[in-house]
Amino acid sequence: MLKPLDQSGVWRFRELLPPLAEQRVITLREGNTPLYHLQRCASLTGIDSLYAKHQGMNPTGSFKDTGMTVAATAAHATGFHWVACASTGNTSASMAAYAARGNMRSLVLIPEGKISWGKLSQSLDYGALTCQLRTDFDGCVRILNDLVRQKPVYLLNSVNPYRIEGQKTAAVELLEQLEWQVPDHIIVPGGNLGNSSAIGKALLEMHQLKLISRLPKVSIVQAQGANPFYRSVHEFGGAKLEPMTADTMATAIRIGNPASWKKALRVLQSTGGEVEQVTELEIAEAKAEIGADGIGCEPASAVTLAGLKKLSQRGFVKPGETVILILTGHLLKDPDFTIKFHRGDLFEGTLQEREAVRTKQLQRAPVVLDATLAAVISALEAAEKIP
Ligand code: F0G
Repeated sequence: MLKPLDQSGVWRFRELLPPLAEQRVITLREGNTPLYHLQRCASLTGIDSLYAKHQGMNPTGSFKDTGMTVAATAAHATGFHWVACASTGNTSASMAAYAARGNMRSLVLIPEGKISWGKLSQSLDYGALTCQLRTDFDGCVRILNDLVRQKPVYLLNSVNPYRIEGQKTAAVELLEQLEWQVPDHIIVPGGNLGNSSAIGKALLEMHQLKLISRLPKVSIVQAQGANPFYRSVHEFGGAKLEPMTADTMATAIRIGNPASWKKALRVLQSTGGEVEQVTELEIAEAKAEIGADGIGCEPASAVTLAGLKKLSQRGFVKPGETVILILTGHLLKDPDFTIKFHRGDLFEGTLQEREAVRTKQLQRAPVVLDATLAAVISALEAAEKIP
């Protein structure tokens, strides 16, 4: 049996779950996500062998699903009726879906006004009890940790080890897709740092099992306004992490006190990866560039390309190397961000407003025309002059 939590809030296991019959596995057929070559981004960065492993192509549109199938199954198999998470939107969407599939109730704690509508709408539709708390993600986590000590509610945040086990599949699939040729770099966005920990764990285990002969360097990228891990590594040599009040338009990674920072640090150290930070403008540009490749992703995923540019500028990533960006969420998760960017008002009223002029050539604002053939033809001719 799994014992929920001890006094310190740490998960304890009395014994592993017994083997489960296949029909007791809660699944939405997650995984097996595509690996895309990013043609335009490759020529832009000068790194020919540039690929995206798109975890946003999972059933609820984010990487959370591969972990959620395992953790929701564990919750169900151990007899829980309620599952709960604090979230910046994707965990809650995923948890709500898997709970519904397993006939469990789900409780979502999200920061009010700080998650995208796409994600919020998912947890509503999948039937979660959705509480928008007047705090940030870190405040939601604090309340959730207290709640699970008092109520028989199964915690589904990424400190849940079953989630980490499930999220390892991205790395295993990736190596399989590369026919076990080890890439030089894997670049992952960093928020609560569960995903980078899971990917690192999978790589280390595959290395131990001799499925791969060497380790790729796993690098983690944070938004500059939500960079506690970057600061931990660069200012304190990883000796401590100072929690901060986080702020970024990439709301998925608006996290000031990441739970899994020590695990992520071990991944950096054992694979020889780097940690980088990127500005809001760099995120917006990179997102449009991934979009222009016909792939698209949500803002938090785009930190990977923005980070790659910086890592390559300082020579850490070299032109002949193979680089994999882990795209964590689907483009349609946050259409508000995308529309504002293309209309040119994403940075309106912000400190970056003037600098944002440089993103103009990436913008493709919709054009409103009279319903005439002549108007469409002249729009077409005007567009032909733009590369
Ligand atoms: N990218 C996306 C799209 C995310 O939703 C998250 C985290 C991350 C990256 C960062 O991953 O936390 O494992 O380092 N989203 C969580 C949530 C926190 O609640 O949906 P991480």
